Amino acid sequence: MFKVCIISCGMIANSAHIPAFKHFSEDYEITAVCDINEKAARDTAERHGILSWYTDAQDMLDKEKPDIVSVCVPNCYHKQYTLMALNSGANVLCEKPLAFSVKDAEEMFACAKKNNKILVTCQSMRFTPDRMAAKKYIEENRLENFYYGELSRTRRRGTPAWGTFHIKKISCGGAFIDIGVHMLDAIVWLMGNPKVKSVSATAMQNHKYEIGSFSKSGALTGQVDSVRPFDPEEMDVEDFSCGMITFENGAKVSFKVAWATNMPESADIKLVCKEKGIFLPEGKVLSGEENEEILKSEKCPYDTPFAGHMYIADNLRKVLKGEAELIIKPEETINVTKIIELFYRSAELGREVFTEELQ
Ligand SMILES: NC(=O)c1ccc[n+]([C@@H]2O[C@H](COP(=O)([O-])OP(=O)(O)OC[C@H]3O[C@@H](n4cnc5c(N)ncnc54)[C@H](O)[C@@H]3O)[C@@H](O)[C@H]2O)c1
Repeated sequence: MFKVCIISCGMIANSAHIPAFKHFSEDYEITAVCDINEKAARDTAERHGILSWYTDAQDMLDKEKPDIVSVCVPNCYHKQYTLMALNSGANVLCEKPLAFSVKDAEEMFACAKKNNKILVTCQSMRFTPDRMAAKKYIEENRLENFYYGELSRTRRRGTPAWGTFHIKKISCGGAFIDIGVHMLDAIVWLMGNPKVKSVSATAMQNHKYEIGSFSKSGALTGQVDSVRPFDPEEMDVEDFSCGMITFENGAKVSFKVAWATNMPESADIKLVCKEKGIFLPEGKVLSGEENEEILKSEKCPYDTPFAGHMYIADNLRKVLKGEAELIIKPEETINVTKIIELFYRSAELGREVFTEELQ
């Protein structure tokens, strides 16, 4: 039985992490939760029948000595709590995005290695039926050398309105690292993790006064327990971005990501190599002059919009028992972090930025 502790008791801890660990109760026991907001910690513990709650994470780690810690704090605190938990002797599941600089991501993985622990980033949106079917098809058909891709993740009005996602000093970025990072992770995973060479990006803010519903802005169950009132005047991150990623093997991926834009909602991936073109979420595969196949996707076994967290919790217990390999690998997270760092540098400088410039 693995002892689990949760750091922070907001939307994602309550809707995704705690239900996922509880789903596999034969292998996981959540012994405590923690939040600097005492009410959030107490309410979360009571809601889920968890024995202990804390307001100080180090105190919780010292007393509970967990095997696994979920780090569910806002982005700017990911690094400090991940290092704290790893150094306490726990394996860590950290929410996305893991970090905003390659230097930080490498330091976090080095800390995991030093402590002989696992650090996994919660890239939960790889695990949609269409993306998993595409990965299987790519592997079975040995498709490689994708030379072009497109990703589009757009919401009509979906700026998160419950937390601190819109405040740069806490969230470290806007739509690109909130919803774009899931698509980025998925496309890089499907392409076989080619190394990024450069990014050319534009980031804008167009709709800060137009806010949608909780469920359409990422709180997928519609349930948010501790809402921090949204003040548009505080918003200083991008709600729209577009650009181009170039990889060392010459491949290009064009992207657009929006919390709010007057375009159709999308979560689309297009990928082309010499043999095939793959189109998601439709699951279409094109080749030759007229050939068209439809990917066979499996029905998701989990009845929750946060099914990705279930797949991750299932994989983590199997990895810890020596029964499976980690699906979300450190080198993939480091590559994605590099793209994030290049993206913000490029948007700030208004020009293409190359990986050599990050050193
Ligand atoms: N994988 C996904 O699909 C997904 C979806 C939503 C959010 N997330 C990620 O989860 C994280 C949290 O998002 P959320 O929606 O739960 O936010 P939230 O605003 O609902 O919750 C954040 C919680 O952190 C607590 N907190 C703030 N500062 C703290 C600190 N210094 N120490 C301890 N606790 C602190 C707050 O009191 C709050 O309870 C973010 O990194 C976000 O990117 C991931």
